[in-house]
Amino acid sequence: MQTLIFATNNQHKVAEIRAVLGNRFHIIPLQEAGIDIDIPEPHDTLEANAQEKSQTIHRLTGQDCFSEDTGLEVPALNGEPGVKSARYAGDVRSFDANIDTLLGKLKGKTDRSARFRTVISLILGGEEYRFEGICPGRIIDERKGNEGFGYDPVFVPEGSDRTFAEMSMEEKNKFSHRKKAMEKMIAFLSS
Ligand code: IMP
Repeated sequence: MQTLIFATNNQHKVAEIRAVLGNRFHIIPLQEAGIDIDIPEPHDTLEANAQEKSQTIHRLTGQDCFSEDTGLEVPALNGEPGVKSARYAGDVRSFDANIDTLLGKLKGKTDRSARFRTVISLILGGEEYRFEGICPGRIIDERKGNEGFGYDPVFVPEGSDRTFAEMSMEEKNKFSHRKKAMEKMIAFLSS
């Protein structure tokens, strides 16, 4: 079975990705690999931040690895929060405060469309490969549901009338940006 280090400390992402991969690949998150760092995301694109994370881990371990960076992109806010999704309310990195900031900025706007976009950066045999996944949807004006993380309580994916936070992980994975990007990576690794 192929082993890949996953450059994240986010347990929600690890669980979602393991649910997609099943037992086809052995995924090792940073903590399990004994790597105790919070990799910076200093760039202004998801692509550059994903690459920064995968290259940092590859430099440290020399092993095949991947990272992903995700942003919520809202046309009525000129694409924000986008690359700033984790820190939309400032350096506190609070999911709740980020949602409050988002809802505050969207107050009175009629265009509620939004999309999650994930970029995966895979380093395999020293070469970098990228995969993108997009989930279109809309932002509702109050939170619903307790599952998931981040902006899930206010995001309703296209094709559903429930938020990601009202869905089990299996249901979320029917729509999810991260799942779509993962499927492209799996197809590449399996080819
Ligand atoms: P990251 O930089 O890729 O870890 O993600 C940035 C931020 O986007 C996270 O802190 C979350 O607030 C948000 N985010 C990423 N993926 C999801 C998701 O699947 N659902 C809801 N929010 C997400």
